[in-house]
Amino acid sequence: MTPSDVKATLSFSDGSPSMDLPIYKGTVGPDVIDIRKLYGQTGKFTYDPGFLSTASCNSTITYIDGDKGELLYRGYPIEQLAVHCDFLETCHLLLYGDLPDLAQKTDFTARVTNHTMVNEQMQFFLRGFRRDAHPMAVMTGLVGALSAFYHDSTDINNPQHREIAAIRLIAKMPTLVAMAYKYSAGQPYMYPKNKLSYAANFMHMMFATPCEDYVPNDVLVRALDRIFILHADHEQNASTSTVRLCGSSGTNPFAAIAAGVACLWGPAHGGANEACLNMLGDIQQIGGVEKIGEFIKQVKDKNSSVKLMGFGHRVYKNYDPRAKLMRETCHEVLGALGLENDPLFKLAMALEKIALEDEYFVARKLYPNVDFYSGIVQSALGIPVSLFTAIFALARTVGWIAQLNEMIGDPEYKIGRPRQLYVGAAPRQVKPIAER
Ligand code: CMC
Repeated sequence: MTPSDVKATLSFSDGSPSMDLPIYKGTVGPDVIDIRKLYGQTGKFTYDPGFLSTASCNSTITYIDGDKGELLYRGYPIEQLAVHCDFLETCHLLLYGDLPDLAQKTDFTARVTNHTMVNEQMQFFLRGFRRDAHPMAVMTGLVGALSAFYHDSTDINNPQHREIAAIRLIAKMPTLVAMAYKYSAGQPYMYPKNKLSYAANFMHMMFATPCEDYVPNDVLVRALDRIFILHADHEQNASTSTVRLCGSSGTNPFAAIAAGVACLWGPAHGGANEACLNMLGDIQQIGGVEKIGEFIKQVKDKNSSVKLMGFGHRVYKNYDPRAKLMRETCHEVLGALGLENDPLFKLAMALEKIALEDEYFVARKLYPNVDFYSGIVQSALGIPVSLFTAIFALARTVGWIAQLNEMIGDPEYKIGRPRQLYVGAAPRQVKPIAER
């Protein structure tokens, strides 16, 4: 962090002494005011529910300019990564700080593919779930359970343990998601095939059966790989902050990532892709494009809780750059499958157009986010709607680990412990039960 020459001065209208606060500059983006000594010197906390103005850490991993609609991983624009790199190169970038050269890529890919199988006991653990359980409920359990299977990578303070846990998590997430799917479909699990690419192997584990090989189509594999790249990290979002906070207690990496999976499930976060496709299905059912006006009316009604899922973002006040790329992928996939006239895609495009011109959305700077189109792509790939958020979790795992490892490796890191403004009852005395 580079100190700025400028200082912030905090003054109080009751005559209490004012306080100078240091300001730090990042590489790009807003400066931060360092309030760490505020409580010690003034006895006051800051108040910022929802972290609207609070930087919870400093980080070298991802940068978002929400007004411009810009997303960088380690300085590289997402548009370039999506076109020139594959997911495992992106994982290397997020974990180690730069894109791999050819030798590093070969080595990293070999390390990941060496760990794609899961302990055979995992399937018995999975068997305890109902077959109709939501995949995110299953994934929360399976990821947390990894700590019960891989005891040699649970010490978060040991860099070797963190490294092997990182590789294991990236390698095993596709296997676990595919197992959760196969279990729900009542089909036998397919073991990973390490000669396939990361995305192709996932499609094999999802769609092959012991009776039928699955021959992955290159356009679809590339689309899935792009979904993984676009979801790999997103700065200090809710699930990443959850992983950091959970990991700050010193718990093991698998437990911290399981906390991230649980947080991601919510419809305001990763669950939005599933909610978005369900919303498109609902509009389709009541009459499709003709009924968009009626639906938008409900969304704008202050008394209804209906939201346009896949629209809006805490940070982006412009078109989410991931949504642009996903829209492009959507065209490619539907073209490759001969589904250009897919009614849900047409509905999504019509809905997007109407919303982008509507005063309500314009005034609030509500634009499509990545989830607006990712569900349509995943559906076209044959992925069931209830599995969408699990795919997001699979892809975000590398971001969670990179952020967790960055925090633990920082010599200044402390357990995360927010404070509060207490507005409950003033101190009072317990009365004997007969007098209450
Ligand atoms: N539909 C209708 N109105 C909306 C929407 C929406 N999707 N999003 C925000 N608004 C309105 C909101 O009602 C508020 O209006 P008003 O000022 O009149 O009260 C205004 O826009 C500002 O919204 P906010 O709730 O203060 O914004 P936030 O930053 O707290 O919430 C959000 C961000 C993503 C939770 C929200 O936009 C939302 O719920 N979107 C739908 C869910 C979604 O698509 N989530 C995926 C996010 S991208 C993937 C990921 O990173 O997880």
